Amino acid sequence: MSQVHDDVFSPIAWRDDTLYLLDQTVLPREETWLRCDTPELVADAIRRLSVRGAPAIGVAAGYGLVVGLTGVKDPSDLQGRFDEVEALLASTRPTAVNLTWALARGRGVFEAHRSEGPAAVREALLTWAHGLHEGDIETNKRMGAHGRERFAEGDRVLTHCNAGGLATAGYGTAVGVITAGHRDGRIAHVWVDETRPLLQGARLTAWELERLDIPYRLVTDSSVGALMARGLVDRVVVGADRIARNGDAANKIGTYTVAVLAARHNVPFYVAAPLSTIDRDTPTGADIPIEEREDVEVTEVFGTRVAPAGTLATNIAFDVTPAELIAGLITEMGVLEAPFEQSIASAFAAAAEGS
Ligand code: MRU
Repeated sequence: MSQVHDDVFSPIAWRDDTLYLLDQTVLPREETWLRCDTPELVADAIRRLSVRGAPAIGVAAGYGLVVGLTGVKDPSDLQGRFDEVEALLASTRPTAVNLTWALARGRGVFEAHRSEGPAAVREALLTWAHGLHEGDIETNKRMGAHGRERFAEGDRVLTHCNAGGLATAGYGTAVGVITAGHRDGRIAHVWVDETRPLLQGARLTAWELERLDIPYRLVTDSSVGALMARGLVDRVVVGADRIARNGDAANKIGTYTVAVLAARHNVPFYVAAPLSTIDRDTPTGADIPIEEREDVEVTEVFGTRVAPAGTLATNIAFDVTPAELIAGLITEMGVLEAPFEQSIASAFAAAAEGS
């Protein structure tokens, strides 16, 4: 069911008037689509990481609002139902700001159409969610076109976690930049961090690069220093879950370690993310809520215990890379550079002018 054309595949589909999500917990072993026809199923899919990656979470939540209004007949039930579904979806994951970004926009659509009754407001939300889906792919392609300019012929690029089509509505952020850079002959090779504990790099980025026919090699997270010390990494590009107003960027745990190593080895470190991932209400990285997940994700590897019984673990899901370690934020409005507070403000002003 996933669509692959023009380097775009989407992990999110609207079929038979309901939402389907590609179950990323079982990739690459199985390609299973989950039918999510209740908001509880959508919320559960987000919490379990069946759908994951900040922009994909935002788009799935947008469709989740539509699913939540399915079956509402009485206009007097509309507001209560919307509030309940919005709160349920908002509670799923704290760091990815695209979730609250999408829900706030969905609320705007709901309020504009509420007086037209349940069927009309659901229809308006569905049209909006389709626009979000398609708009995210367009945004990612623009990001790829801007970002590829920062790469040189033959570059060997390292990425962490999965910021590809699977993590978005399609095409990807960091992997989108890699795809654009590879297609025009600049990026020759990709180092893929496996990304403990849930192996988004090994399972998902490798799966995508295989399908995209981009040369890559998988490495353990702890290999990054050795690779850089041997001069085997020319540039790093990663995604982000939330970027603060000053340019500090939260991304999958281990990203900060990569950024520190990149600085030590003079390897330019880029973050690719749409403006919807930049949270201007969050002043610095210290203000970003960081998700902590269950310790079994660390003490076990996909259901097999690797630590002795009784071992306690801490499972911090994201870390923050300080802006000073970031060479540029690759956005749909261009590559933003330090001082980020100013370049971010200008990008938002230019986007508002263009809209
Ligand atoms: O826990 P995950 O898999 O949702 O974490 C995803 C990441 O850290 C991605 O790099 C980020 O969301 C950017 S996705 C384009």
